[in-house]
Amino acid sequence: MAKIAELAVKHVSGGEVIGLGSGATVARFVEKLGAYSSGLRESVMVIASSSQIQLVAERVGLELASPSLVPNISLAVDGADQIDARFNMIKGGGGALLREEVLLHAARKRIILADEEKYVDVLSKPVPVEFVSFARTGVEKELREIGGKPSLRVLNKGYPYVTENGNFIFDTDFGPIKKPEQSTVQIKNIPGVTASGIFIGAGDIFYVARRDGSVERLAASP
Ligand code: A5P
Repeated sequence: MAKIAELAVKHVSGGEVIGLGSGATVARFVEKLGAYSSGLRESVMVIASSSQIQLVAERVGLELASPSLVPNISLAVDGADQIDARFNMIKGGGGALLREEVLLHAARKRIILADEEKYVDVLSKPVPVEFVSFARTGVEKELREIGGKPSLRVLNKGYPYVTENGNFIFDTDFGPIKKPEQSTVQIKNIPGVTASGIFIGAGDIFYVARRDGSVERLAASP
């Protein structure tokens, strides 16, 4: 994991605005970026997709940019929960899917870092679906109608998990997702849904951390 983070920081140049995804993998990258950027002539600025990753960025001394600079993002670095053979992803295990989608969409280059175990032929993990709480029962009904089994994400004592956007999440089991493009359109068409955890075409370069310690770089074709 440390190796892929090291390779990813080499894509960073001084003066850039970098979008940061969330999760443990991105945290490793941010730690490397802190050290790497101090050796650059011009400083880099980062926009974090969550407080989790913002705290890491602050700790390593990175300069935080305002979200109003999202259109200036040249590079975004993120992790994933699962990646299929066509580089579609399931994201949102940490609940940061909406802001991750915003940052990845804006970036000119997108790098995804993940362990070998996360690469599969067909996506099959439950899909995080973020929605406004007002629409909960309607979203639940419609997710069932399109073949999903939604389960409200809750904290230890049963309180609903609330995203940083003030919304709830249904972790929705669709079984094997053979048509991810179609599934994500169906999910996003449900009124009240703010983000689907199926990400289509959201990465350009994929670094794979292999079990044996080696690293592979894969490129998604346009
Ligand atoms: C955050 O909401 C997610 O999209 C993360 O990118 C994903 O869960 C991967 O996280 P880890 O690097 O912690 O596995």
